[in-house]
Amino acid sequence: MNDSKNTPPPGSMAARADRHVLYQASVQDVEAEIDFIEETWASLRGEPATLLREDFCGTANTACEWVRRQPWHEAFGVDLDGAVLQWGRAHNLESLNPEQQARIRLIQGDVCEVRAELADIILAMNFSYFLFLTRDGLRRYFENVLAGLKDEGIFFLDAYGGYEAPMELEEPRDCGEFTYIWEQASFNPIDSLMTCLIHFEFPDGSRLDRAFSYHWRLWTLPEIQEILKESGFRQVDVYWEGTDEESNEGNGIYEPATMGDADPGWVCYVVAQP
Ligand SMILES: C[S@@+](CC[C@H](N)C(=O)[O-])C[C@H]1O[C@@H](n2cnc3c(N)ncnc32)[C@H](O)[C@@H]1O
Repeated sequence: MNDSKNTPPPGSMAARADRHVLYQASVQDVEAEIDFIEETWASLRGEPATLLREDFCGTANTACEWVRRQPWHEAFGVDLDGAVLQWGRAHNLESLNPEQQARIRLIQGDVCEVRAELADIILAMNFSYFLFLTRDGLRRYFENVLAGLKDEGIFFLDAYGGYEAPMELEEPRDCGEFTYIWEQASFNPIDSLMTCLIHFEFPDGSRLDRAFSYHWRLWTLPEIQEILKESGFRQVDVYWEGTDEESNEGNGIYEPATMGDADPGWVCYVVAQP
């Protein structure tokens, strides 16, 4: 996923930056993600969850947060890319204490084929499953998730959409020490395939261009719910974000819903149960 062809000038802030550090700081909020997972699990199940599998784990940041939370939590992360897993080992797993490190394992492999110990929770976050471009491909992945879950397990995914989602646009966000830029570089309405890029810009004017690139399909919520059901999940719920009455912005609280607002851009969770 590293498409970084435009090498920044030596000594510049961009040249000294680590794209995984920037990604974790600007894209991920693993504390909020695990808060949602723990709260939702507690509302749906009587017994605490033990084993979490993070699919498309990248640097395994979320899996590390899971093992930090409780002494009985165990995790494994699955990703195709050996280099990104190695980065995760050297940075995120290294920051765990030895007892926590003993409860986490990283597997280099394909999430459509991985066979491992049955998990209580499987995660597919930051829309990574959008990388499957056909219904058959997405169903094959969801079927493997179902096969990897305990009977009482829960599959958590996120999704995004809204009327700005299929637009070609650039969206900068100030992250303090750098600017994160999300670019929807191309969208084809005939097959819903799009190319999205992440760039980072620094106060000295240097830029990490195309630090990450994604060629994926903009799946809609009805499609995702239908394919989960076709894959054998019996209960599929969309958790929609509530609105803060004062600011009229999202309040960070996601609850099961059957009606959402026609916002320009939204992110939600999908919770699928066997
Ligand atoms: C968008 S990143 C997700 C990072 C992280 N999960 C997050 O929440 O931000 C996508 C990751 O999926 C991995 N990946 C893509 N296809 C995969 C597959 N079929 N099996 C396992 N990993 C895959 C890539 O190597 C990349 O690290």
